[in-house]
Amino acid sequence: MSKPRKRFALLAIAALAISGALAACSPSGSDSDSTDGSGDTIKIGLLLPETKTARYEAFDRPLFEDKITSLGNYEVVYANAAQDADKQLQQAESALTEGIKVLVLDPVDGTAAVTIVEAAAAQDVPVIAYDRFIKSDKVSYYISFDNEKVGVLQATALVDKLKADGTTTGLIMINGSPTDANAADFKKAAHSVIDPSGIPILAEFDTPDWSPDKAQEWAAGQVTQFGTEMSGVYAANDGTAGGAIAAMKAAGTDPWPPVTGQDAELAGIQRIVAGDQFMTVYKAIKLQAELAAEVAHQLAQGKTPEPDTTVQDIPSTLLTPVVVTVDNIQETVIDDGFWTVDQICTADYADACAAAGLQ
Ligand code: BGC
Repeated sequence: MSKPRKRFALLAIAALAISGALAACSPSGSDSDSTDGSGDTIKIGLLLPETKTARYEAFDRPLFEDKITSLGNYEVVYANAAQDADKQLQQAESALTEGIKVLVLDPVDGTAAVTIVEAAAAQDVPVIAYDRFIKSDKVSYYISFDNEKVGVLQATALVDKLKADGTTTGLIMINGSPTDANAADFKKAAHSVIDPSGIPILAEFDTPDWSPDKAQEWAAGQVTQFGTEMSGVYAANDGTAGGAIAAMKAAGTDPWPPVTGQDAELAGIQRIVAGDQFMTVYKAIKLQAELAAEVAHQLAQGKTPEPDTTVQDIPSTLLTPVVVTVDNIQETVIDDGFWTVDQICTADYADACAAAGLQ
């Protein structure tokens, strides 16, 4: 498929997802749609989970804020829980006290967040579970990516690469946070590919808080223990991949094993260009954040958004993740406007970028 058509495919998937979710949405945009009748601004809560992964402050927050304020007279009450579930509960209580009309919640801990959903429901404030699932029938809408597909894409890319290279002695698995429902999906889906592949799993770790430092510390121990027997690294996102890569660099690992990732973070894309990381998964956060804003806008107006699907009976939209390797950086993250060549190809990466055909 040529570059323009690939790009079209990405955008078309996006457009479909959004049009489906917004089928019940009436055209709007006037300020009167988003005031409470008194002309005051309407407050919308946005609570994000952590600060160790770049996406939240760099993409989710600004994209959501830009979109919702373009839809009317909205003010966003924002807080980041910095990986602390108790702190997130306090932030939610404070946002509810401030009089938010809708809460967009990306939970640190999917189970603990049920308390937040119930507190919001008690005040008739609808909750959108953003990116991470919350198991409560009081959640009004769930917006995420197909997280099982993410795990399948990561593991399939890794298994195929190890088999193609004939380096199947064993891999380690660095999973995400045990309190994040997405991490459980990634892990289960990755196992569904790795377990039947015949490639041994030498060791496996659930990374507390998705912390790159904790992933690095654990990976350093595995490098010492398994040496060159460790021929592949399944890392659930780019942060944990970065931790594993730092551990292997410190140990002088050679030969270098393929490492997976997720989020298409700038650092992850640069590591792919440089050959340190094998792949990542691109998730078009712009679509996700803007859809959350559209759905919040509808809920704030007392409308019922029309879902594409349901997940455990909750109206939902699941967007489509895309594999990125050195061969399709241009057609994915660059053509989609997620990163520019200038951002990726800084002086340190100039030679690697030229070799990868990025210009
Ligand atoms: C998100 C990932 C992110 C991870 C760590 C997951 O729930 O889906 O995009 O890398 O959390 O914050």
